[in-house]
Amino acid sequence: MKLEPKKKSLRNRLKNSVLEVILSSTSHGIPNIVRSSNMIVKLVWIASTLLSSGLCAYMITQSFLKYFSYDVITKTRYINEFKTIFPSVTVCNLNFFTSENSIKFIKTLNDDIKFFRNPIENDFHNIAKSLRKNFSNSDLIFGDTKEKLIVYCRSNTLECDLDLIDYYNHPEHGACYTFNLREPYAVSFIPKKYFSLRLVLNISVPDENNFISASNGALVIIHNRTISPFQYEGICIPPKTEANIALSRTFYSSIPKPYSNCDGNTNDPNAYDSELYKLIHNNSKTYSQFLCVSLCGQRFIIKMCGCYYPMMLSFFNAKACTIYDDSCYIKYYKTILASDYVNNVCLKECPLECEGMTFQKTISYNHFTNKDWIKYLQSYNKNDSLYFNKTIDPKHLVAVNVYHDSLSYINIEESPTVSFVDLLSSIGGIAGLFMGVSVLSLVEIIEVFIQICLVFKSHVKVHESP
Ligand SMILES: *[C@@H]1O[C@H](CO)[C@@H](O)[C@H](O)[C@H]1NC(C)=O
Ligand SMILES: *[C@@H]1O[C@H](CO)[C@@H](O)[C@H](O)[C@H]1NC(C)=O
Ligand SMILES: *[C@@H]1O[C@H](CO)[C@@H](O)[C@H](O)[C@H]1NC(C)=O
Ligand SMILES: *[C@@H]1O[C@H](CO)[C@@H](O)[C@H](O)[C@H]1NC(C)=O
Ligand SMILES: *[C@@H]1O[C@H](CO)[C@@H](O)[C@H](O)[C@H]1NC(C)=O
Ligand SMILES: *[C@@H]1O[C@H](CO)[C@@H](O)[C@H](O)[C@H]1NC(C)=O
Repeated sequence: MKLEPKKKSLRNRLKNSVLEVILSSTSHGIPNIVRSSNMIVKLVWIASTLLSSGLCAYMITQSFLKYFSYDVITKTRYINEFKTIFPSVTVCNLNFFTSENSIKFIKTLNDDIKFFRNPIENDFHNIAKSLRKNFSNSDLIFGDTKEKLIVYCRSNTLECDLDLIDYYNHPEHGACYTFNLREPYAVSFIPKKYFSLRLVLNISVPDENNFISASNGALVIIHNRTISPFQYEGICIPPKTEANIALSRTFYSSIPKPYSNCDGNTNDPNAYDSELYKLIHNNSKTYSQFLCVSLCGQRFIIKMCGCYYPMMLSFFNAKACTIYDDSCYIKYYKTILASDYVNNVCLKECPLECEGMTFQKTISYNHFTNKDWIKYLQSYNKNDSLYFNKTIDPKHLVAVNVYHDSLSYINIEESPTVSFVDLLSSIGGIAGLFMGVSVLSLVEIIEVFIQICLVFKSHVKVHESP
């Protein structure tokens, strides 16, 4: 009987303390419902509160959905520069076998090999390439020397230092030479042809080897210093032709997953735990998914055939496939094409890089050399003369000018449409507009719990003391 009034007072005290918090709440709906004594006013408040909270919940959900759709805004800007580092330029003879030694090597191949395939398939080049390791381990001896290929080189109005031009072993074209790979880098000040890189190349092929390939000319690959020339196909220049290559640049960068397909951070050799990824970082200056996927195919062929596909890059410790392995590597190459191997195996090991750059090229051609000019060249008789009293076959000569069309470049950047701060502000705005609540209103809920606890605590004390 004695407990009766105490119970009542507990309920009252609970009710009072909760009411106190509610009435002083910063949110507007519930306090007004509680406060209003008139039934109609109460109903109006209840209806408005329900409607408001419904709209509020709907719009907040929309904000979340928008945030988690990971949309991006693409910003394209045209950025001016007055001086820029010239790209690297790699030049090759289109033909692999151009040296005296290569004549000897081709002579070792008998008619069985020579007529292994129909010449119209233009495959003898590849057959000879696949057998060349039997003759020599160095590819340098099959192709042009630097001095033979590069007849003349001028960069930024000065003659180039041939020592700064490096040998590059192209898997398809053999001996190639890269300009501007090392410091001091050539720079570009004036976007004009005359202030560009100018090369005159001797692309002759010895008569004995002329039968190997119907194609003839020079290959010019323009690439970022950090990127292997193998990644680009390059520009072919026919004999007796001058090619003028005007460059403009585009840089791009994307935000990593989930905003796009790219993985990011591919410059860090330890970022991904994949054999191919590490192999590329060990052997090449920059990682690229293209290299990684081609090595992945190469690894598969090595596993199946014990040799690598000779026309593609290989960093593996294996020998090149010869014509005798033809059926094997062609079979497994077809297997890779027909199956989901690239998707299921390669792409899992090969992250996609998020940034890069491309060169846009505008190429124009004109004739190069004429009879009178050749005569003029042959009659020049100073200590830097190249052809005084020598015969010149104009079919051996190709010229190429590489220059920036403009020193400005296009920069493409992405940023999230809705950032986390945007999400918070939009939730804050909606909640404030419809309910009048803020982050601190949430604290009020905690306050209610604390008040309840306090009431219970004091009740227990009162209960225990008598
Ligand atoms: C490679 O050379 C060896 C002898 O030097 C010869 O026996 C062998 O048949 C050659 N292989 C091919 C594929 O020509
Ligand atoms: C890369 O090089 C490091 C050190 O030179 C070596 O420990 C590692 O095994 C190499 N990784 C691959 C995949 O070749
Ligand atoms: C090569 O690419 C990197 C990264 O994309 C860039 O910073 C650099 O300027 C590029 N080099 C040239 C010569 O354009
Ligand atoms: C060519 O001759 C000029 C003087 O006529 C001289 O200054 C120059 O060093 C010479 N060049 C070579 C490569 O001998
Ligand atoms: C040019 O060649 C001719 C014949 O080949 C020769 O008689 C002459 O001495 C040569 N002249 C010079 C300057 O080498
Ligand atoms: C090109 O090189 C070949 C082989 O070294 C040489 O015989 C020929 O005279 C050269 N042609 C020109 C135009 O320099």
